[in-house]
Order: sequence, then structure tokens, then C-alpha cells
Amino acid sequence: MKKVYLETFGCQMNVSDSERVATSLSSRGFELTPNEESADIVLLNTCSVREKAEHKLYARVGRIRNSGREKPVIGVMGCVAQLEGETLFKKIAGVDFVIGTKAVGRVKEAIDRVLKGDRDVADLGEREPNYDWSVADAQRNSPYVAFVPIIEGCNKFCTYCIVPFSRGREISLAASEIVRQVLELRRQGVKEVHLIGQNVNSYRPISDSGLEKFRGATPFSKLLRAVAATGIERIKFNTSFPRDFHADIVEAINENENLCNWVHLPVQSGSDRVLKAMRRGHAIENYTKKIDNLRASKRNISLTTDIIVGFPGETGEDFEETVKVVEYCGYDAAYIFKYSPRPGTPAFEMADDVTADEKTERFLRLEAVQRERQNKNLQRYLNKTLQVLTEKPSSRGVGQLSGHSTCHKVVNFQGTADMLGKIVNAKISEIKANSLFGEVAETR
Ligand code: SAH
Ligand code: SF4
Ligand code: F3S
Repeated sequence: MKKVYLETFGCQMNVSDSERVATSLSSRGFELTPNEESADIVLLNTCSVREKAEHKLYARVGRIRNSGREKPVIGVMGCVAQLEGETLFKKIAGVDFVIGTKAVGRVKEAIDRVLKGDRDVADLGEREPNYDWSVADAQRNSPYVAFVPIIEGCNKFCTYCIVPFSRGREISLAASEIVRQVLELRRQGVKEVHLIGQNVNSYRPISDSGLEKFRGATPFSKLLRAVAATGIERIKFNTSFPRDFHADIVEAINENENLCNWVHLPVQSGSDRVLKAMRRGHAIENYTKKIDNLRASKRNISLTTDIIVGFPGETGEDFEETVKVVEYCGYDAAYIFKYSPRPGTPAFEMADDVTADEKTERFLRLEAVQRERQNKNLQRYLNKTLQVLTEKPSSRGVGQLSGHSTCHKVVNFQGTADMLGKIVNAKISEIKANSLFGEVAETR
């Protein structure tokens, strides 16, 4: 049996695609191995969102090629594969096949062709109509947490972003199919589902009579209610797009305990001028109104965000507006990135005029502001009891377990193996930079 080593870079969509590729390969005569050295086939699932991410691929293939052993078959899938296509064969020596983002259901066919002796095998075709969305238990990152894609692609074309080019147009899965999957996952013992997509709240299935009964709300909040009604223990969703984030989503969270109290709402910048140049479709005033509305919820909703510093034309004043927004919103976490020009995007044509030093300066300053604000925010959890899904032994010490709260904090605690997969009540006794520590009061 040929062994496949699969390595995943990038976002949850890639992680989710990898789970499905692993499922299909293992049911079609391959063995997935965690051990790269013993693999006959190395498959790299790539990300192209920033230049650094792309460079990783070049370095990675080089290392495999120079590892001293006989070269395995090397396949590239994911966003770099989709964008570069056959040019990858010229750019990186040693790549044997390339699989686009919609062709992930046909990895086996590509491997078979390479093993038969075909060279430079590329498949950038569309998804086959009978694409199998299911993931085998054994191939899931966690036996208790499952990713369920609800919308693929992106129509937003933010001027800096490569994703609409690598993932194509938005396509929503039928609500009936999503509900069916969640019911099946619940039956298998999964405790938490993540409804995922580049913009989950832009969810808009072509036609879905199953959602008709919740009239007057957005299709996404209707879907949330339908998934909540499956009775699965916990539901999280990300990422949310600010312009499409409406009050009915907060209402659905308020009314359904199993819709978790965490919202990831990337603001990108605090300056209206920059937001316009980014073509984000939201102004700061309406963004902060949405934040106010989230804060008013009785559910104590945790907020997180993404921010880009050093977008073309961003002045010191623009940046100060971003600092202000970060201070105002009180995020529990913020992922801060330095702007990275991506060929093919509209922003690539703009002068990348914020110097590398300025970008670094702004990055560090914003990080410090966020860290301080975050420390203050997180104090609200001290001595509070959070419901934590026990996911795995913690790397931090013997007898320590680790999991996530409903508000998506990493919580570590002292516990025993029988708690794995269970939801425990943990009283928070210590706040750390990126995690919380708790004492288990009760196991459900
Ligand atoms: N669909 C989500 C996230 C997409 S990519 C959204 O709209 O928010 C994840 C994050 O990467 C983005 O939120 C953005 O902050 C960052 N990002 C995307 N393109 C980038 C670029 N060219 N340079 C730096 N950061 C970028
Ligand atoms: Fe990229 Fe904007 Fe789409 Fe997010 S919404 S994936 S940032 S284009
Ligand atoms: Fe990266 Fe593609 Fe996701 S570019 S962030 S892997 S959609």
C-alpha cells in the first residue's frame, strides 16, 4: 500500500479540504502516514494569502528534494496550485502534480497517472457533481470537533486579497445537506461543529425550501437556527463579513444556547479612507454599531478580528484610527498582518509606499496596544465558570488537559483521560497571554 504524507498550510478551508482528501485516499487504497520520511507521496496543501505563505512552499519542496533519500512523488494542492497551475512545474523542480482548489476530489486520479509514468500532471477543473463532502472519523483533526463548509469562494474582491482568485465565486451548500451532515456528526459523537467559509454570513443557497419557515431573516441566521435545532451540543461559525453581519444573527445567538458566544469579525483597518481603498464595503461607524449590538447581548459574546497594517497609502493618521478602533472594540484576540502585495490583485497596482520599517513599527505598536487591551478584557473571565470541551492532553504538563470554551478560548486544566470528549465546567483561576487556566468543578 502506498503511503501518503499530507501537510496543510493556510486557513480552515484548507484544513477541511485536507480532511476530505485524506478520507477519500484512505478509502481508495492509500495509507495516510504522519511520517514524512516513509511516505511514497508527499502532498502539500498550500496557501497564497501573503507572500511569506507562498515562499514556504518553495522552501518546503527544496527540503524534500534534498533530504538525501529517493525523491517521493510530490503533489501540490490548495491556493498556490490553483493560481500557478502548470507554471509550478517550471518554477519548482521536483513537483509531479498540481491539483486546483475545485479538483480536490480527484487527487487519486492524479497520483495514479504519475505512478503510471505521466509527467507534469495538472487538474484545475471544476468540482465533480457528486463530490463527497463527508469526512471519516479517523481523518478529522479532532474526534469531537468537526468543520462543516457551508459556503465556498468569495465575491468580495477586497483589493488586497487573492482569495477570490484562488477559490472562485461564492457557492452555498444546500441547508438540507448541512443539517443532514450535522445530524450525522451528532450521531457519531461529535460535540462541536464549525460552520466555515470565507464569509459565512453571506450564505445564500440557490433554493432551499427547508429554510422557508423562518421568514424575514437573512438566509444565514435561518441556517443557524436550523442547525441549532439539530440539538448538537455546540455550534461555532467563522469568518463573518462585517457588511453582511445583521442583528438577526445576534438574535439567533441570544435565543439558542448551542450557538456559541464567539464572533470573528475582521475590521482590517480603523480608517474609512483605507477601508474604501480596500473596498471592504463597511465604514467604521456602522462597524462599531454592530460591535455595540454584539456587546449588548446577554451572552457575553467574545469578539476577535483581523487587521492589516501598512496598506498602500496608509498614513500615520490612518494608523492611529486603527489603534482607536482596537481600543474601542475590546477584542479578545486580533490577528495582525503586515500588508503583502499579491500579484493580480487591484492593490498590487498601487504603490506599496509604507516602508518595511514603518510596517514593522505599526505592527509592533498595534500588537502592544492589543495585548494590553486583551489582558484587561480577559480579566472578566477570572473566577467565572466556563464550559470547556476537553479535546486533548495539554502539551504543558502531566495530567493537564486542554480544550476550548464556548467563547473559543483555549482553557487548560488538571484532569483525567476519561474527560476527553466531555464538556466540563472549569472555574478560571489564571489568565495567561494566549490561554486560560481553570479548575474543573463538574463534568457533564
Ligand atoms: N474572508 C476573511 C478572511 C480572509 S484571509 C475576511 O474577509 O475577513 C484572512 C486574513 O488575511 C484577512 O482577514 C486579512 O486580514 C489577511 N490578508 C488577506 N490578504 C492579505 C494581504 N495581501 N496582506 C496581508 N494580509 C492579508
Ligand atoms: Fe479576501 Fe475580502 Fe473575500 Fe475576505 S472578504 S476572502 S478579505 S476578498
Ligand atoms: Fe490561504 Fe487559500 Fe485560505 S490563500 S487563507 S488557504 S483560501
